[in-house]
Amino acid sequence: MVENIVVGRDKDDLKKYGEKGTAFLGKHIVGKGEDAHLTNPILMDVTRPHVMLISGKRGAGKSYTAGIIAEEIALLPEEIRSNLSVIMFDTMGIYWSMKNPNERDKEILKEWGLKPKALSVQLFIPKGYADEYEQAGVTYDSTFNLVCSDLAPEDWVLTFGFSFVDEHGTTIERIIKNLKKTKKGYSIADIIKAIEADKRAEQRVKDALVNRFSAAEGWGVFGSTGTKMHDLIKPGTVSVVDVSHYMQFSTAWSIRSMLVGLLSRNIYHSRSLARKSEELEVMTGESRQTMPMVWIMIDEAHQFLPSTGTTAATEPLLRLVKQGREPGISLLFITQRPNKLHEDALAQSDMIIAHRLTAEADLTALRGIMQTYMLDDIQEYINTLPRKKGTAIVLDDSSERIYTMQARPRKTWHAGGSPTAIKEISVLG
Ligand SMILES: Nc1ncnc2c1ncn2[C@@H]1O[C@H](COP(=O)(O)OP(=O)(O)O)[C@@H](O)[C@H]1O
Ligand SMILES: [Mg+2]
Repeated sequence: MVENIVVGRDKDDLKKYGEKGTAFLGKHIVGKGEDAHLTNPILMDVTRPHVMLISGKRGAGKSYTAGIIAEEIALLPEEIRSNLSVIMFDTMGIYWSMKNPNERDKEILKEWGLKPKALSVQLFIPKGYADEYEQAGVTYDSTFNLVCSDLAPEDWVLTFGFSFVDEHGTTIERIIKNLKKTKKGYSIADIIKAIEADKRAEQRVKDALVNRFSAAEGWGVFGSTGTKMHDLIKPGTVSVVDVSHYMQFSTAWSIRSMLVGLLSRNIYHSRSLARKSEELEVMTGESRQTMPMVWIMIDEAHQFLPSTGTTAATEPLLRLVKQGREPGISLLFITQRPNKLHEDALAQSDMIIAHRLTAEADLTALRGIMQTYMLDDIQEYINTLPRKKGTAIVLDDSSERIYTMQARPRKTWHAGGSPTAIKEISVLG
């Protein structure tokens, strides 16, 4: 019998839980080049909070592998699955396709002893884009809305690309702070009114700000009530938050960062509260309604949590990186450029799946986080990988080992590489 390799699980948990609550990622590759063959299945713990990194050059299989992990979580036995949920921040608009079974790779799946499967993924789209989805015939499940008054002055300053010391930044700060004091649940229209009535800022600054806030109306995400965290974080469910839009805005990544930042902050808050209820439950034996643990997956993560500079998602994501363990939040960062990802995210990663990388700086970044047990050059490991899609090395902090792996084929349809579901339209601009 071929033994399974379990990564991301410490000895105590291994003894206690064995292989329960693990995700089947792929198979261990033994041998090089022509002689390479697939051996032991590699399983990964998904029941404890982790910070994970998936890297590799374009087309190497990063998004595909992230989809494998999401599938595995959603297909765990009911009693485990019900304590977990996945939120996928989808920068390419590709993960909605997980609703469909991967019939196209039926034969390959068969070789792996697997079958195509559809998942009940929840697709969240910005509410302003609903018509376009309907026209394109893509069914979505819910729209996501942000409440304008939930945003801090910093969020606006960062999203618009101002600084805290320039006159635009300071004016935003003053006006938003004042609104927070005087008007509960203010809207963008209220902000614009306040800017126009402002006596201190110069007209040209006011004009520029009115311009920016008017554009923000067009992002199609602000409403009087926000997305309920209980809708987003559902037991055993993959929620895909489509942030692929905004191509027509030069500030597309800032807008996405604002969305990811605000939602991450809300997730942290909700999970922290849930954690308290769970503790109470343990203490009193009384059952309460709580919220499952969350896996947050972020594609193009270096755009949200860059190594240099700050985005509106930086602070909320760093908080999750540093304090997510306690409220049971796992992070999965996907990036082509580990070198461009914030060093704290790299340093906190306890599992890395590295597909082929090219840039030397990116290899150096990975080497930097490797512990002493990984003395051998990471490049050598990567060089032994057969030149096939989905091959990777897995660096596991728990076992202090490296494995070469062929990721398994997907059970659900992967839309990577194909264009987004929805063509960008300029009406909202
Ligand atoms: N484990 C795998 N098995 C089979 N094909 C794969 C695997 N991983 C990736 N591929 C193929 O490679 C393509 C690109 O993968 P993708 O994950 O979208 O790349 P990227 O690294 O740019 O995110 C996929 O559309 C798929 O066809
Ligand atoms: Mg990708």
